[in-house]
Amino acid sequence: MSNFRSRATRRQFIAGSTALPFAAWLSASQKALAASAASDGSAASSGPSAAAASAAAAPAATPKSLAADVLNVRDFEPLARQALPPAHFGYLATGVDDDRTLKRNEEAYGDYEIRARRFADLTHIDTGLTVYGSRWRLPVYLSAVSGLRAFHPEGEAAVAAAAASRSVQLMLSSGSSTAIERILTLRGAPVWQQLYPTDDWTVTQGMVRRAEKAGADAIVVTVDSTATVAVRNSETLKRAARVDTRVCTACHVDNRHDMWLKAPLFAGLDVSHVHELAPPDLTLQWLERLRKQVKGRLIVKGILTGEDAALLLDTGIDGIVISNHGGRNEETLRATIDCLAEVVAAVKGKVPVFVDGGIRRGSDVFKALALGATAVGIGRPQAWGLAAFGQEGVESVLDIYARELQAIMRQAGTPTLAAIGGRAVLHRRA
Ligand SMILES: Cc1cc2nc3c(=O)[nH]c(=O)nc-3n(C[C@H](O)[C@H](O)[C@H](O)COP(=O)(O)O)c2cc1C
Repeated sequence: MSNFRSRATRRQFIAGSTALPFAAWLSASQKALAASAASDGSAASSGPSAAAASAAAAPAATPKSLAADVLNVRDFEPLARQALPPAHFGYLATGVDDDRTLKRNEEAYGDYEIRARRFADLTHIDTGLTVYGSRWRLPVYLSAVSGLRAFHPEGEAAVAAAAASRSVQLMLSSGSSTAIERILTLRGAPVWQQLYPTDDWTVTQGMVRRAEKAGADAIVVTVDSTATVAVRNSETLKRAARVDTRVCTACHVDNRHDMWLKAPLFAGLDVSHVHELAPPDLTLQWLERLRKQVKGRLIVKGILTGEDAALLLDTGIDGIVISNHGGRNEETLRATIDCLAEVVAAVKGKVPVFVDGGIRRGSDVFKALALGATAVGIGRPQAWGLAAFGQEGVESVLDIYARELQAIMRQAGTPTLAAIGGRAVLHRRA
């Protein structure tokens, strides 16, 4: 799966990596596929065994130091692109329509400026916090990213091991390609289980029961996926899939990509009536019904307005994640960081507010906290690190966030997270 023939090649790539425009990368991939098909006299990357191999073969073992050499989180993206088959990278990279919401999520952090203060005692910088009674080392968690074995053969197992070694919270996707029971063993601490609400209540109930029985300490229901997979216009993914000549049936049941057909969380449940990841009537009443079903904490992921946040407070939920699914569902062109202030104002400190989308620097984490977030989630960067280096890549991604956050806390004169107040950032146009 890895295109790197040697350590030196990989090192050169790291040193010189700046993201190729997607279209340029796509055409390079197309040429590479055509060349390799010609050289072995067959469709190089087609046929069930080739497909299985490309999905499952481990990248060549890479010395630890290389993952640690990557300079910043963004630099993992071109490395992931090199390591992955086009359709899998396209799936990871895609937004919808023109991918502008995806880009806005990231760019909008540039509109916030930090007011650096002097004269604080910076002898100890503490990035720790308490969330739901548990001590977190970092205000950063790994958000749900579907089936991670699409990006590395060790998938969620590698991510769980990285979460354990770096003591960060993990949110496992409903589509996880590894069973929650195994993840809990590897993580050695409770994880959050993300829940797609599905259009079959019995199946949804079954998923909640299994996750809670296994030991998940929160159910995170995603409410932003009401546009069906067929409706959602994932154009970048479609373009990438067109140049990927592998046969998907080796891994995807009946060449279908529906997670309920393959993800372990659905195993043993009758999924024959599931057609969508969300019911058409995902109303507050539906949520109240779920609230009664979930015994532990219930967090709602996918909120973007103060109005919806205020409505939620009466349903007895335990937390809110401001998220537009990494710009993957609707092209609103509104960055999640720009939604934070109104949601925080509506919630009035009654439950923790988390935010994800476009967080690529420790200073982005700092800005989100200054605007009122309790902690932030990261999606794509964990998969970039995973695809490029397995567990070590995810660890390195987390180390960079930690290092950069400590640096900006020191530079801004805020030795603790509690010291990062609302006056620590300004919007450029405010
Ligand atoms: C490939 C991929 C798969 C995802 N799968 C899920 C999922 O299964 N459930 C979910 O709630 N969010 C899912 N998300 C959204 C992430 O949890 C998160 O909201 C988003 O990626 C954050 O944006 P970022 O990628 O810019 O960090 C996925 C995101 C990506 C990139």
